[in-house]
Amino acid sequence: MRSSRRSECALSDWELRLRKSFHFVTDSGAMLASLCLAMALAAGSLRAQSLAATPPMGWNTWYAFGCHATDAEVRAAADAMATNGMRAAGYQYVNLDDCWQGKRDAKGFIHPNARFPDMKALADYLHRMGLKFGIYSSPGPKTCGGYPGSYGHEQQDAQTYATWGIDFVKYDWCSAGEVYKPGQLEAAYEKMHRAILQTGRPMVYSLCEYGMDAPWLWGQSVGANLWRTTDDVSNRIGFQEYQRMMFVGFGQAGLGHYAGPGHWNDPDMLQIGNRGLDLSEDRTQMTLWSLVAAPLISSTNLAQLTPSELAILTNREVIAVDQDSLGVEGHRLSQAGPIEVWAKPLSGKRVAVGLFNSGESTLPASIRFSDVGYSGAVRLRDLWKRENLGVFRDHFSAEIPRHGVVLIEIQPAIEE
Ligand code: GLA
Repeated sequence: MRSSRRSECALSDWELRLRKSFHFVTDSGAMLASLCLAMALAAGSLRAQSLAATPPMGWNTWYAFGCHATDAEVRAAADAMATNGMRAAGYQYVNLDDCWQGKRDAKGFIHPNARFPDMKALADYLHRMGLKFGIYSSPGPKTCGGYPGSYGHEQQDAQTYATWGIDFVKYDWCSAGEVYKPGQLEAAYEKMHRAILQTGRPMVYSLCEYGMDAPWLWGQSVGANLWRTTDDVSNRIGFQEYQRMMFVGFGQAGLGHYAGPGHWNDPDMLQIGNRGLDLSEDRTQMTLWSLVAAPLISSTNLAQLTPSELAILTNREVIAVDQDSLGVEGHRLSQAGPIEVWAKPLSGKRVAVGLFNSGESTLPASIRFSDVGYSGAVRLRDLWKRENLGVFRDHFSAEIPRHGVVLIEIQPAIEE
């Protein structure tokens, strides 16, 4: 009797459609296996693009609850997103970070710990709300928090995630250095990519190796939809939160051309709502992350957000800069001491420009329109004030407050 095609190849309906379009007619042996893999990889690269056509948006447990997150807190965060305007503004993924793991059973399958009694039920809860569910593991034997990693269990873990209904996998290096040699990072990350493909369930694939092996050079080729470009944006001893955030954000300079639809640079999560940043600094992070087309993953206790912080997280005009359909990452136009000007090309002949001041007092900053490709008059809008500023020629100048930013959108003016 013929076994089902699904068990032989584990192809999704989507991949089966692709398979038909390849006029695939045989079912036998090695040829089947290699064709399955080739098609899975081809489907994977197409899927990678359709999965994260714009930078993923969502929420993550890590900076909110660290290693103590619970099922109830994840559900409460989802409830908050559904009622506080975040879901409506585009935040979609609810990502459970480290420390959810329990023990492996006799067959090697991972089970959650007591804080997560039923992962499938949690996934169903999120899916019913129109949200998606993300999870975390490591290519090493242990995660950063010391919980079981996926080493030697990659296919089993991917299958478990698929069974639970997972939509996003963050794969964090940590102890993998104990089992892989330098130069084996790509292979280690590709292994989980293939395992995910074999399940037939689309899952956004998020690499976390802190930028140590330049993942922007190879992340896309191992199926990643996003890759961390740096170490953590917070919790670095000896750094002030604002200095650290600026170091990480401005550190994206030069990486822009590695990003695009389906594959994004990831400078770690939004700190808005967390201790350490004031409102000007919050606006600065939201602006800089949007200009560099970063994933917008909030990681704070949403129950404690103030109305002003929530307004920053849900400013749709700023989010639209991040999510613009062109998918071009912005770049640094100029730097003069504490003043930096960054620009991001947008669809419809528009350009977003951020004028940043990392100094300790208010300072002037300006942008010459010819530097972003305009020769004639332009129309400007201030995206934080949500105000049209009118028609300008040649340049725009503004006073930028300490640790603050002005974000404008430029478009050609229709001359009267
Ligand atoms: C590393 C990652 C963080 C987080 C923790 C979890 O530090 O960079 O984003 O996932 O591990 O232990």
